[in-house]
Amino acid sequence: MSFSGLSKVISNEKTGPQQFLIVLHSPELTKQAKPGQFVHVRVNGLSDPLLRRPISLHEIDYASGNVSLLYQVVGKGTELLSGVPAGAEVDVMGPLGNGFWIPEGVKRVLVVGGGIGNAPLLPLVKELKDRGVEQTVLLGGRTVDYVAGLEGFKSVGVTVETATDDGSLGRKGFVTQLAEDIFTLDKPDYFFACGPEPMLKQLIITADKYGISGQVSLEERMGCAVGACLACVCKIKVKTDEAGWDYKKVCVDGPVFEASEVVFDV
Ligand SMILES: Cc1cc2nc3c(=O)[nH]c(=O)nc-3n(C[C@H](O)[C@H](O)[C@H](O)COP(=O)(O)OP(=O)(O)OC[C@H]3O[C@@H](n4cnc5c(N)ncnc54)[C@H](O)[C@@H]3O)c2cc1C
Ligand code: FES
Repeated sequence: MSFSGLSKVISNEKTGPQQFLIVLHSPELTKQAKPGQFVHVRVNGLSDPLLRRPISLHEIDYASGNVSLLYQVVGKGTELLSGVPAGAEVDVMGPLGNGFWIPEGVKRVLVVGGGIGNAPLLPLVKELKDRGVEQTVLLGGRTVDYVAGLEGFKSVGVTVETATDDGSLGRKGFVTQLAEDIFTLDKPDYFFACGPEPMLKQLIITADKYGISGQVSLEERMGCAVGACLACVCKIKVKTDEAGWDYKKVCVDGPVFEASEVVFDV
């Protein structure tokens, strides 16, 4: 059963323009956590905004009982979170969602992130490394400042390549173009991705062209995060011979789905 309660803030520091890393001491939550899961977080004691906000687990430290969240300030909830000082407490629920799974027999993978979508990929990259799976990590962003969490990925000791829209870091262009180069030159068995919807959509089309399957982590606005309110539904193909799709809840059926199942609205 997931944890729900107060967690102490160890630190909450600015890591980029409108980007923060918050470290929470939450042993009950941490011991159950796995890559790709998220927490539903609210600044304790404030009823406005009433709803919690979903943020992915960026680091999971089983030894210390700490988890960190890497987040971009985009509105009121994340703005309030950025103002919480070390030593205060925040109200968290988690870990939530299914998380990534590493399919049997996969030996070489591509991990692709875009912007703040890089956040949930770091624990996955660490687990792949621990399991001896060969990997290349591709991280994209609008500019060098928006390639979220880059130093953390580099510190794992895996191959990390970058792409930025303006060429301020790595290849000038989209991270999906880097991915296509790798699909052509050094085809991986599988891919994992998280990022903006247009990026995921393009990546899935490209991977499909090369016959490579994978998993994507989706983001939808959430209400309850426990499957009760239907705020977070997305379209997932039904697994029958018939063409068609059904609604699934990103909070409990995801946020990670098989790439081939996801139906994006155009
Ligand atoms: C499973 C999951 C994991 C996430 N992990 C992270 C993470 O690790 N780091 C991080 O910075 N953000 C993450 N997000 C997105 C984060 O939840 C939203 O940015 C946050 O809820 C915005 O709250 P707010 O009150 O600051 O902004 P609001 O005032 O609620 O919204 C501000 C703007 O952001 C847009 N927005 C809000 N929520 C979402 C969403 N879920 N997807 C796309 N656009 C949205 C709104 O449409 C609006 O334009 C995640 C979302 C999900 C569903
Ligand atoms: S957020 Fe309520 S059902 Fe998913």
